[in-house]
Parts: sequence; structure tokens; C-alpha cells
Amino acid sequence: MVLGLLIVTAVPVVTGVAEAISSKKQQNAQMKEKIKFNMTATLSVDGGPPTEAWIVLHEGRMYIDHPAAPRPGHKFNGYYFKYPSDHGYQGLVSTISDDPPMLNWLYIDKDTGAVRYGSRKETIGHVFGPWGWSENEQFLTIDEDDWRFIAVEEDIPRPKKTAEGKGGAEGEIKGGQDGNNNDVDKDDEDEEEEEEEEDTEKCWAIYLSRDQDGSLKPKAERRVAQQRRNGGGEDEQEEEEEEEDGPDVRYTHKWAPIRLLRKLQLGVDSTWVKGRNGPAVNR
Ligand SMILES: *[C@@H]1O[C@H](CO)[C@@H](O)[C@H](O)[C@H]1NC(C)=O
Repeated sequence: MVLGLLIVTAVPVVTGVAEAISSKKQQNAQMKEKIKFNMTATLSVDGGPPTEAWIVLHEGRMYIDHPAAPRPGHKFNGYYFKYPSDHGYQGLVSTISDDPPMLNWLYIDKDTGAVRYGSRKETIGHVFGPWGWSENEQFLTIDEDDWRFIAVEEDIPRPKKTAEGKGGAEGEIKGGQDGNNNDVDKDDEDEEEEEEEEDTEKCWAIYLSRDQDGSLKPKAERRVAQQRRNGGGEDEQEEEEEEEDGPDVRYTHKWAPIRLLRKLQLGVDSTWVKGRNGPAVNR
């Protein structure tokens, strides 16, 4: 009995020292994690005026829905949520659809650097954090850096305008949705089908830029890998992607560094946010 009590009281002291954060500060941070936010980025496309545009999610990727290069999708609408792993990282989740309400994790593709979203299973092996906010709390950070994000111009197939008006994307569908202009729509469709093969348009996707060493890994994990190697570690070296035997091809893209501005939704009751959507995250 007595022994058991001693052990129980001893444990919190040790962890308490490790986290030398006052509980007040911690509470504050916890509050901030729960606030939902949308995001924007400001980008000048082809010499046009710098324009602030919504960050959207579409087919597993994150884009800027820029008026000069529209990419309609579900507006990013997320909050921080502890990612279940040994690292203890702060993860980032977002709704990916309103109806039904679904949440996904945001992560970085370990090979391409593209910002992606998916179930927890899909994030495994990729870079899933740590996400955070800049000192002034305005911008999204990853690995404590708000300037690691870049917008990259990509070619995408031009969306087909189906009569059903599927994509549900605002701004894309022109004209009344009911009745009369069905014929017009059909004509458009026929025309497009003829030249479908090479019918692409530009859009801007979000990526994480590599650090000086060409790595996408968070600092903390790279330190661990380094230590293992120095400490006579086993075959950990393989982690340093060195087995790329293919030709050293470089593709050039238009790209620009961007910051992701958080638009806090302060009016939203955070208990609703957490209670309603929280548990779905782990599935
Ligand atoms: C934020 O994103 C959600 C989900 O897409 C959307 O319903 C909401 O209207 C957005 N907020 C603003 C201010 O646009």
C-alpha cells in the first residue's frame, strides 16, 4: 500500500519538471488550439495585383482558390488536435465536407512535399506535424516556421461542365441553374469533348519547401536520426533517401513563397466544435 502511494506521487513531479510551462499558459494554448479557422494566402498571379484568396481542399490536396486561377473546393476549416504518436506533435485537422460533416488530418507528402489531407492511416510515414501558429498568432506554421509554405503552379484538366452542375463549387457555374439554358450547356459540353485531351488550366497548389539539407522532416526527427547514426547506429542510414538511381531530372515550375493567414472563427462555440467533430478524427 504505502509503496504504491509513493510511486504514484513521484511520477507527476518528474513530468512536471520536463514541462516547465505554467498551467495558465498551457490553458491559454489549449484554448487557442480549439478555435476553428479558415485560411487565406495572398498571391500575385502573372503580374496581376496581389490578391487574398481562400485556401481550399480538393481531391486530397490543398490549393489557393485564386480569382486569376480558380480552383474551387471545400474551404479549409480546421483546428489543432493532438496527433496520436510518440512525437506528441500538435496535429491539424479540417472539415473536408459539411454534409456529411467529415474531418481529415493535414499532412505533407514525404516524397513530393505536397500538402495533403486524409485519414490517420493515410498520414502514416508522411510528415504530420508539428503544426502551430506564428508568434503573432496570425499565420499557420509547420515545424515552427510560417515561411515554409510555397505555392506551385500546376496544370490540371479543365473541369467538365456537366449539366447536373456536380462539383457544387461556387463561382464556377455561370447562369441560372434551372431550365432554360440546358441547351447552351450541352453545346458547350460537345465542344469540350472534342479537344478534351489537352484541355488544361493553371492552378496553384500548396507545398512545403525543403530545408537547407533538402529534407522535409521536422527538426526533431532529423536530430534523432542523426544521433542514431553518430551513436554507431545500425542501418538507419537508409533513412537518407539515397537509393534514387533514376536519372537526375529537374522539373521547373513557377512557384512563390507564401504564408497561410488564419481567419479565426471566434463566434463559434468551441465545445460544439470539439464535441461534435472531435471523436471522428481517429477513424
Ligand atoms: C470557413 O469554411 C467553412 C467550411 O468550408 C465554410 O462553411 C465557412 O463559410 C468558411 N468561413 C468563411 C468566413 O468563409
